This record gives sequence, structure tokens and C-alpha cells, in this order.
Amino acid sequence: MSFFDYRDGVLCAEDVALPMIADAVGTPVHVYSAGALRHAADAFTSALRDLPSARFAFAIKANPNGAVLRLLAQRGYGADIVSGGELRRALDAGIAPADVVFSGVGKTDRELIDALEAGIGQFNLELEEEGGVLAQLARRRGKRAPAVLRVNPDVDGGTHAKITTGWRTSKFGVDIAGAPDMYDRLAKLDGLDLQGIALHIGSQISDLEPLETAYRRIGALVLELRARGHTITRVDLGGGLGITYRPEDVMPSLADYASMVARVTHDWNVSLTFEPGRIITGLAGVLLTRVIWVKPSQHRPFVIVDAAMNDLARPALYDAYHRFAAVRPDGRTMVADIAGPVCETGDIFGVDRAIDQVDRGDLAVFHATGAYGAAMASIYNSRPISPQVMVDEDRFELVGDRTMFSDLSMRPQRKSRTVDPALSGAVRQAA
Ligand code: LLP
Repeated sequence: MSFFDYRDGVLCAEDVALPMIADAVGTPVHVYSAGALRHAADAFTSALRDLPSARFAFAIKANPNGAVLRLLAQRGYGADIVSGGELRRALDAGIAPADVVFSGVGKTDRELIDALEAGIGQFNLELEEEGGVLAQLARRRGKRAPAVLRVNPDVDGGTHAKITTGWRTSKFGVDIAGAPDMYDRLAKLDGLDLQGIALHIGSQISDLEPLETAYRRIGALVLELRARGHTITRVDLGGGLGITYRPEDVMPSLADYASMVARVTHDWNVSLTFEPGRIITGLAGVLLTRVIWVKPSQHRPFVIVDAAMNDLARPALYDAYHRFAAVRPDGRTMVADIAGPVCETGDIFGVDRAIDQVDRGDLAVFHATGAYGAAMASIYNSRPISPQVMVDEDRFELVGDRTMFSDLSMRPQRKSRTVDPALSGAVRQAA
């Protein structure tokens, strides 16, 4: 099912022609399809529905837009957060604190306190000392912090080196060999209610085999912990499933993933948590842009668009591929490099690409930008943060405003701004 398709030669998001959105809010703009979001969200939960007490925590980092989070909250998703800012977004979107999981290798004391006071459902501990600090903070507040220990299963996720997280040299999780003894020590702490294990081996994973290997290692660990007398009620299997960016990409189906999970976990007797990000929002967004120039060069023309690496960092960071298509293709094609206006050689979206012929002023899109697109935007080159629009059938609404140049200016602000400690990196200041 495609929610971004051509009608009468014009690319539409659901029933809205993209030129209407460009006219209304300008370009570049991130456009989301509510239908595509509902479709992906429901496909994931219904594929895994038969597992005993599965819980779904959307990885907010993939798309923290408030309208996106509200839509997912209405469909039963909690949140996987990695910062105080994401905690706030989750709660603002109406996600119940009990449905919030706090991942992240560097949670500050301030963030731990705010999450404790909010009453979140699960802290994913990344090192032993964090467990000690959390236990102390909880005890002082008369609480026991619900927690699991994130283990590094030492498996290569087979994905881009910068988004693989479960290999032994990665900064995430604790070494699986030392995990049972560490668990013994952490389980003794009064302020912790230690309930199980978490893992996450990477993102854009295209093969179920490394996931299965990692899950089996966790299964063996659960047995070992039970043999040591621990009550294990939760395992958090993380996220990581890939999506098709290139037409030729082959990804595991949700049905295959679900049956692998069912097969591997059938005798675990725990409640499973999933932290999907990309697979929920990735295909539900496009980045709509306008061609500024088609610049001739000796080898190939450069199509220079008004979107840049500050709007979509993935190509510059991971050499990621995002399909480029004209909004009103006329059947002609060209071979070109596609680039943004930022003053970096790396601000390139594609090299030597066979694409729809475009000319100065034409509209075009980069596909599959709904995850880690707007989420990773920056103001580099003093460019504004691009707006975000949500389409639902024949309606569309601005769900994220353009941050204007005045907001980025170095001139003194008219309103005085205070530093919000919850968002600062300060450690120990409020313990
Ligand atoms: N859980 C944890 C603990 C994570 O670290 C992540 C992603 C997820 C869940 C969600 O993973 P997903 O289902 O989206 O693969 N910026 C990169 C991706 C970084 C992923 C970081 N962690 C990109 O644009 O490809």
C-alpha cells in the first residue's frame, strides 16, 4: 500500500497534491502521512499480538514530532526515550509514564530524578554504577526504580558501522560474560526493582539471523539468572528492523520476524518489550524540496535542491540512500549528482543517480525520510529548521513550524531565556 503516489501525473501524499503543501508552507518541508503511520503502527502490533503481554515503546529518537507521538499513543504505543527532552515529549503526547522506557548510555542525575518522579515504567541500566546511583535516588524518594540490565550480546548486526550497537566494542550495554555476577550485585540494592534484561544490537537490520543469535544469547542468560534465584519477568528486545530505501532492498517480513521471536522466546515466560523506531515512521514521510539550479559540470550535472544535510543528515553521515523523484515527472530522465546548498562537500544526497529529469524551480522529494529525518535536523549554515506537515486523507496541517532566521540570530533576545536544568547536561547538581 502506498500513501505517496502519483495522481494525474502529480505526486500526492494521500489525497493532497504535494504542490499545494509547497504553496502553503514553502520548501523544504517534511511531509508525513497519517494513514501510513497508522498502517505501519498497526502492522507491527498485530504481527506480534499473539506473544504473551508484548509491550510497544516507540523509539522517539526516530521521530519526536508531537503529532506523530500523539497518533502512536492513541494506537497503544508507549515510548523508548533517551533524554529529558524525550521524556517531556512523551508525557506531553499523552503517553502514560508507566509506558515509558528510559534507554541511553549517559543519563544524568537530573534526568534520572525527573524520570523517577514522573514514575516511568522501566529504566534500562547501561552500567553497574548507574544502577547504584538510581537505587540511591529512588530510596531517598521512598521508591524502588523498575529496571532491567542492558546487555551487549556481542553480535554484529550486519548494518552500517555507525548504527551497530551490539558488538563487543560498542559503548552500549554491559559485557554479557560479566552480566550474571553484576545482576547478582544489582538485585541486592533496595532502591531497585530489577526485573530482567534489555538488548538492542543496531538499526536498519536487514537479516534476522544476527537478531536471532542475540536473542538466543539473552535466552541463555535468562536461564542462568533464574538458576541463580532471580525472578525474571521482563525482556526488552530493542528495535532495529530495517525498511526498504532502495527498490531492490529485501527486508525480513514482520510475519517472519514475529515467528522467529515466538520460536526463540516461547519458553522464556516473560513480558516482552519492543522498541521499534524506523519501521514505524520511516516510510511515512518524504522531504519535499525545490530544485534551485541544475548546474552543469564537466562530468555530470549537479541538481542543487533547497533541502540540505541540515534537513536530512543520513546521506552525509552514513552514505544513506534516499530515492529522489520529481513531483511532476514528464517521462524524461537524467543522470546527475544531487546536492544541497550547505558549504560542505559532503552535502550530497546522491552521486551518479539516474533520476527524473528536473529543471530549475521543479518540486521533488526524497523518499522514506520519516525516521531520523527531521529528528536529526540542525541549523548548520544558519539555515532554519524546516517545517513539518501531517496529511490525513484530503486535509493537511502544520505540525512543526519553521524556525525562522530571527530565532537563530545572535542579537540579544527580546524575551530573556532561562536555562532549563532538566535539559542541561549537569550531573549531580540536584541529587
Ligand atoms: N532502542 C534503542 C536502545 C536504540 O538505540 C534505537 C536506535 C532504537 C531502539 C530504535 O531503532 P530502530 O528501530 O529505529 O532501528 N540515526 C541513525 C539511526 C540511529 C539509531 C539509534 N538507536 C539512522 O539514521 O540510520
